Amino acid sequence: MINNHHIPIMTNEILSLIDDKKNLFILDCTFGGGGHSINFLDRGHRVTAIDQDDNSIFLAKKLKKKYKNISFYKSNFKDLDLLDLEVKKFDLILLDLGFSSNQLLDKNIGLSFKFDSNLNMNYLGGDLNAYKIINHYNKDELKRVFHLYGEINQAEKLAEYILKQRSIKKISTNYELIEILRKSGVNFRSKRIHFATQAFQALRIESNNELQNLVTFLKKIHNFLATNSYLVIISFHSLEDRIVKNFFKENKLKKFKKSENVENWYFETLTKKPIVPSKSEIIDNSRSRSAKLRIGRFIN
Ligand SMILES: C[S@@+](CC[C@H](N)C(=O)[O-])C[C@H]1O[C@@H](n2cnc3c(N)ncnc32)[C@H](O)[C@@H]1O
Repeated sequence: MINNHHIPIMTNEILSLIDDKKNLFILDCTFGGGGHSINFLDRGHRVTAIDQDDNSIFLAKKLKKKYKNISFYKSNFKDLDLLDLEVKKFDLILLDLGFSSNQLLDKNIGLSFKFDSNLNMNYLGGDLNAYKIINHYNKDELKRVFHLYGEINQAEKLAEYILKQRSIKKISTNYELIEILRKSGVNFRSKRIHFATQAFQALRIESNNELQNLVTFLKKIHNFLATNSYLVIISFHSLEDRIVKNFFKENKLKKFKKSENVENWYFETLTKKPIVPSKSEIIDNSRSRSAKLRIGRFIN
């Protein structure tokens, strides 16, 4: 039995964009527990949902019994052009990036440092995982992952220490990894978060190819947006947020030329600065605290 533990983030801010509209076509590319989708369905919109996660399929099937206006596709959202979607152009496309609370609680995935699990961290079903990275990447590859995706200053020192430890014994579980991080002598940046956060983030981004998925998706997304539609993206770390911010910047209306791209479409950025959750939302749902919401209106 799969229950949904995920609370949707900044729902009111998203719904306020389409308050006065009816019967819209919505594409929810990160269905998760269906929290955002349910809000759209309750207002009579038609939802096309995508997620790579098997548990999401199960939850979507349950929803289908109550709402007939939902179709679900199991896929990586970077491949949305390979899906034969029933609806071709959408009035609002939502990306709520990263992993759901359901996935965070799943010991087989092992994203949490709060309980022990086999080293994995892959929540999208690909071939790569944290065990392979930690035990098989060479020093330079490990350094790249920790430096680029964890923004760890002493990435080389950490890579060297891991190589030494794994030559004694393979590193198989989250708790073993945490112990190695603790003993590595590396000065992890933040005092406010768990010291393993940056390393876990780095391994998760690499295991799931998170940044490349987003970049590939953004390159294609104009083909799926109706004119005057909204592209709504919630991200949870600065690396993702930077990609989204630059995407809207690079594709905005230029003063004398409509836009750089040949098709002459562009985005009007509705969020000069990202929207962040209210204090009360953060109190109710601590997972929302690092969320950043950016919205662009697509003009064609
Ligand atoms: C933060 S949760 C979304 C929660 C959802 N908005 C809700 O309210 O329940 C992110 C979801 O996106 C999915 N996801 C992340 N990256 C993906 C990708 N590249 N392709 C398909 N699904 C992805 C994850 O499997 C997860 O279920």
